[in-house]
Amino acid sequence: MIKLGVNIDHIATLRQARRTYEPEPVWGAALSELAGADCITVHLREDRRHIQDRDVELLRQTIQTKLNLEMADSEPIIAIASDIGPDQVTLVPEKREEVTTEGGLEVIRNLSSLTNTVRHFQDMGIRVSLFIDPDPNQIKAAYRTGAEFIELHTGKYANARTEEDIKRELEILSQASELAHKQGLRVNAGHGLNYKNVRAICEIPYIEELNIGHSIISRALFVGLSQAVAEMKQIIERY
Ligand code: PXP
Repeated sequence: MIKLGVNIDHIATLRQARRTYEPEPVWGAALSELAGADCITVHLREDRRHIQDRDVELLRQTIQTKLNLEMADSEPIIAIASDIGPDQVTLVPEKREEVTTEGGLEVIRNLSSLTNTVRHFQDMGIRVSLFIDPDPNQIKAAYRTGAEFIELHTGKYANARTEEDIKRELEILSQASELAHKQGLRVNAGHGLNYKNVRAICEIPYIEELNIGHSIISRALFVGLSQAVAEMKQIIERY
């Protein structure tokens, strides 16, 4: 069954809007876990726009499922992650001016640095996933880094508007997942997924886990976090 990773960054986004102490991301993680989340994901960005160092430290102490830390392949963040010891690290590209993670990692261009970082975390017993576009060349390069997982970027699919474009993006994701599996990589997916578009993603072979943030936290404003997580979990479980 496909697992649900709940990305709680935007609980911290709301808190940082006032630089105050609420809402507390740790509470969000606990409620998400109680509602069925299989994993809690946070992105410790270099600009600290939402999740702060203390959040990751507290989440490490309190999460009872799995802590997936999204992060850039950068020395200061690698040092923090190594101290905290998440269950999984997902390496993502990061640009200061972007609204959210815009594209996948350039694995080919950064092969040696990524390979070193993958090895560093694996030596500590931490699983590593690389967030990449559904591009065959990136997938082959991801395999060469020694990473166990890739996370396929579903943003282009999520942004597709015409039936034709949606079908094409699904086909690209499907072929990417097949290729990754053949290479021996395990496959996660995420970005831009919501209560409607997630259904077709669940039909793609070999996907083990979906990381979903914005849509769940948005729904939570109106129905509460527990219900928002439980509803997403129900949809995924149906497949
Ligand atoms: N996966 C990765 C690697 C991400 O960077 C993000 C956004 O932080 C997500 C999944 C979740 O995306 P969304 O908030 O659009 O659900």
